[in-house]
Amino acid sequence: MTSLLDRGRSHTCGALRDTDVGTRVVLYGWVNNYRDHGGRRFIDLRDRDGLTQVTFGPDIAQAAHDHAQLVRNEWCLGVSGMVVARGGNANDKLPTGAIEVEVDEIEVFSEAATPPFNVSDDDRLDTSENVRLKYRYLDLRRPSLQRNFILRAKLGTETRAFMSGEGFLELETPYMVKYTPGGARNFLVPSRLNPGAFYALAESPQIFKQLFMVSGLDRYFQITRCFRDEDLRNDRQPEFTQIDVEMSFATPERIFAPMEKLMTHLWRSLLNVELPEAFPRMTWDEAMGRYGSDKPDTRFGLELLDITDLKEGCGFKVFESAPMVKGLCVPADKAGGLSRSQLDKLTDFAKKRESGGAKGLAWAKIKEDGTWQAPFAKTLTQDTMRAMNERMGATPGCVLLFVADDFETTHTVLCNLRILLRDQLSLLDDTSPAWSFLWVTDFPLFEKNEQGQFVSSHHPFTHPHEDHLDILTSDPAKVRAKAYDLVLNGNEVGGGSIRIHRSDVQTKVFEALGLSEEEAETKFGFLLEAFRYGAPPHGGIALGLDRLAMLMCGANSLRDVIAFPKTQKGQDLMTQCPTPADDPQLEELYLRHRPLPSAQPTPSSEE
Ligand code: AMO
Ligand code: AMP
Repeated sequence: MTSLLDRGRSHTCGALRDTDVGTRVVLYGWVNNYRDHGGRRFIDLRDRDGLTQVTFGPDIAQAAHDHAQLVRNEWCLGVSGMVVARGGNANDKLPTGAIEVEVDEIEVFSEAATPPFNVSDDDRLDTSENVRLKYRYLDLRRPSLQRNFILRAKLGTETRAFMSGEGFLELETPYMVKYTPGGARNFLVPSRLNPGAFYALAESPQIFKQLFMVSGLDRYFQITRCFRDEDLRNDRQPEFTQIDVEMSFATPERIFAPMEKLMTHLWRSLLNVELPEAFPRMTWDEAMGRYGSDKPDTRFGLELLDITDLKEGCGFKVFESAPMVKGLCVPADKAGGLSRSQLDKLTDFAKKRESGGAKGLAWAKIKEDGTWQAPFAKTLTQDTMRAMNERMGATPGCVLLFVADDFETTHTVLCNLRILLRDQLSLLDDTSPAWSFLWVTDFPLFEKNEQGQFVSSHHPFTHPHEDHLDILTSDPAKVRAKAYDLVLNGNEVGGGSIRIHRSDVQTKVFEALGLSEEEAETKFGFLLEAFRYGAPPHGGIALGLDRLAMLMCGANSLRDVIAFPKTQKGQDLMTQCPTPADDPQLEELYLRHRPLPSAQPTPSSEE
């Protein structure tokens, strides 16, 4: 008898239905669980396609029945037998639940050590994430994660097919590149062949895709890895994947159109969801004003309202002395949940550095007669309360929450409060849109760094608005850029811009950045040189593929859609990386080991 491996698999573990009853099959898979019910033994056999119940019994085949008794979870098996109907014992929860396979032949391909957690617990698994990441190959056997990676694979395949169909060329760019300052912090790679010199790992293909446009390779795309040495969060990984796009003769609208079409295609083909044909657009100024955020979650209201013009002479010092006062009005039907102690907790939240560091949170409950119950109510006249109620759209039972501070703090804190209240007060319900895409446009060209100097918000090649070319140096804070982000349910899923292609405009922007001609030449000389040879007007965008996958899967961490992710500390717990390099390795690279400031544990040290 030939082995089951040689005979080949006839079906996957998710394929068989009642129409297959009477068929002889060969299945391969892993033991999801094993049950012995007296005369019969049952295994749920699992592969990436699903689960099939396979049955053993002395009446079916004594040898296979005896062999099955030895089997444990996560063993890798082949089985052969006849498909039979389960009749009254059908399991509606399983796609294969109408049938089972009566096994007359079993072959153990591989036994398994006792796993550190039960793969079959899947969604119920409460093992710490660190253990799961250490045994990632077992973690990845869990059906919920496999579903994520199957979706992610389709996301890539469909994107490639769609973009090629739209006439975009898939071109590759180097990962080992010249270090250019600004933007995210780079990882450096020492060059053995060039002692003392380093490559940077590309934080994005930005410069190369612009050079493709100079080369006339119009309409480029690439699904590419990017590397950034950033502080990590749930929505940030040090290596992540972009759907990177660049077009010649572009305007923002000419970039938006194929991206909207791509999203519509992906949502239709992967999720069976119809998106609107065009996504709403909102300027950065409006997004900040209404939501305090450049990536607003527009699935619910609770917008920021401005009472700065009402503060003068209102009597409340906190308001009067601040440059700006804005607030949220929690509607009466949701404000019931805001007890005094909860308002104190919200105040503590608003004051936290991570929330934006407000000096306090002024809250007021609107009484039946429209007056306020608030710690500072005495200081306000009835007229002030009335005017503020009207501005805030406040009626009896509502709760008002105000922050009085500068532009940045006021908006950051209220934006964070708004998201906290979304979750605490369940502001998203069945009537909220499931998918809310938004283009945020016209970002500021410059922002101030910690030293108070103007730096590029994106990169120095971002095109300013034509109307703002005159105020580039005189009023840099007011200059808006032809830069845009794609936002989905409050997450930044993409960003891009129209680029500068004319050297006179570029010189002006460098001037505004305080960059001399020589400095610009040293830093970006090769790009500026290229632009002297007939550069077309161009622009592009990059979408965060991992973030799209995360949202499409309903996951809340990128680690659930990146097969082998890093932890918050940038470590891979499975391979125990990064590791120290030994002296001969360093010597070859002309590097010398410097003692660490204090003994820092590495993942390769004892746990
Ligand atoms: P940007 O830096 O905005 O633009 O990146 C584009 C998109 O990539 C995703 N993203 C990330 N995803 C996971 N982990 C990270 N650390 C991470 N950083 C960014 C986000 C983001 O919107 N070259 C420009 C694009 C252009 O101008 O064409 C760029 O890289 O979803
Ligand atoms: P105080 O006058 O400091 O006792 O504050 C009175 C109320 O105003 C308290 O509820 C504070 O939390 C709140 N408060 C203080 N500073 C601010 C601020 N900058 N913005 C909003 N509320 C504030």
